[in-house]
Amino acid sequence: MDLTLRPFQDEDRAILAGWFGDEAALIQWGGPDMRFPLDEMQLRAMQAGAEEEPPRRLLWTGLRAGRVAAHGQVFLDWRHGVARLARIAVDPACRGEGLAVPFLDMLILGVWARPEFFRIELNVYTFNTAAIRAYRRLGFAEEGVRRSAVAVGSDRWDVAHYALLPAERPGVEETRPGAG
Ligand SMILES: CC(C)(COP(=O)(O)OP(=O)(O)OC[C@H]1O[C@@H](n2cnc3c(N)ncnc32)[C@H](O)[C@@H]1OP(=O)(O)O)[C@@H](O)C(=O)NCCC(=O)NCCS
Repeated sequence: MDLTLRPFQDEDRAILAGWFGDEAALIQWGGPDMRFPLDEMQLRAMQAGAEEEPPRRLLWTGLRAGRVAAHGQVFLDWRHGVARLARIAVDPACRGEGLAVPFLDMLILGVWARPEFFRIELNVYTFNTAAIRAYRRLGFAEEGVRRSAVAVGSDRWDVAHYALLPAERPGVEETRPGAG
């Protein structure tokens, strides 16, 4: 698959904003603090975290055959060596074509290319089968569920916590410092 990663750019903002058609879709992707529609102000605030030194978060664009096809963010806790994958999305026109695992794998290997980082974690709504199947395929294990944690319209959503440690990915653990 012709999939490459590059840092999120200003011109990606309008493309990403077009991927979420209502508040529920936006919160499913971005979490409970998002306000529909996804606007430039919210996106610029996310981008600001990437400009700090060291960066508090990284924003990535996945390109398939040169076209924007995926987005993902990585929150970086430098003190504890914990990275959190967040705001993962595949272009609705490209979903169900197997992009999620190779895209996420690039984000994961990018985290572990930094010797400071050990644990990788994420949160996902428990109904999000496509996301959960991709995370499990990559080795993520569920650590617990915050039941009825998020209110969306008249619904309440459960949030599951997943994590991946280097030892759970063959070939990675022996290269990690701090494994003990
Ligand atoms: C979650 C998301 C990134 C997955 O990307 P995708 O390109 O659709 O998924 P893939 O085609 O790579 O498939 C990943 C897995 O989910 C399964 N899957 C795909 N679409 C599915 C669907 N609609 N229902 C159930 N399973 C589905 C695939 O079969 C595959 O599992 P398998 O490898 O065990 O067969 C994408 O659906 C998306 O952007 N969703 C909206 C935003 C979102 O929810 N982000 C996650 C926030 S935590």
